[in-house]
Amino acid sequence: MNFSDPSNPSHVAIIMDGNGRWAKQRLLNRIKGHEKGAETVRTIIECCREIGISILTLYAFSTENWQRPKVEVAALMTLLVNFLKSEQKKLLDNNIRLNAIGQIERLPKNVRNALHKTMALTEKNNGMLLNLALSYGARAEIVRMVKDVAIKVREGIIDPDSITDDIISDSLYTKGMPDPDLLIRTSGEMRISNFLLWQIAYTEIYITDTLWPDFSKDEFVQILKNYQHRKRRFGKV
Ligand code: FPP
Repeated sequence: MNFSDPSNPSHVAIIMDGNGRWAKQRLLNRIKGHEKGAETVRTIIECCREIGISILTLYAFSTENWQRPKVEVAALMTLLVNFLKSEQKKLLDNNIRLNAIGQIERLPKNVRNALHKTMALTEKNNGMLLNLALSYGARAEIVRMVKDVAIKVREGIIDPDSITDDIISDSLYTKGMPDPDLLIRTSGEMRISNFLLWQIAYTEIYITDTLWPDFSKDEFVQILKNYQHRKRRFGKV
């Protein structure tokens, strides 16, 4: 594939699903699935950077995931901290900026510290934006946006008649970012699971049966080729 192809998506979002099933198939603890999933995260970030994707948004932990068993939540938090620490140098060397979207304030202190440190360190990087969705839920994001806009209306900063799509987009976590061009979901489930509901209005969707720990660079490149043949009409003819 032509890596500098302008018909590649600028913004790719991924619902990384199937870690648990991957582990179950091998009679392993679910946490082993998340560990292997974290390796896939590294591979796909590297691949996106090589190909020249501008924004990669990964659904790493949802607001609903807090309801998982405590040990699983703790293991995911540990994986995240380890990932942030181990990837810092690679993010810097590869000019990747890290950003987090979601209710970051709900994360444990050590995760928040590692996140803030990595975000500050990579703040000036402009080769690619890596967006980690953490404690993220699209409905919670929309509720937060509505409160934000309502306060501005109450304070007379915004006239309700002049509320536009742009005003709404600017009150979301993804402020200033183009909407995803392509959303990939692994492990075959046909649902959106409360991910980027506003932002994916015209996003192309690709669902693969592959479980996230088995997802590869080769498959990612195949999906990009498939995307290049899509006719995006944005509701027009
Ligand atoms: C879904 O699999 C995956 C998650 C809930 C977490 C995603 C986390 C990772 C890929 C690893 C850590 C992330 C980073 C950024 C280092 P599932 O557990 O719902 O799988 P199942 O549906 O098969 O049970």
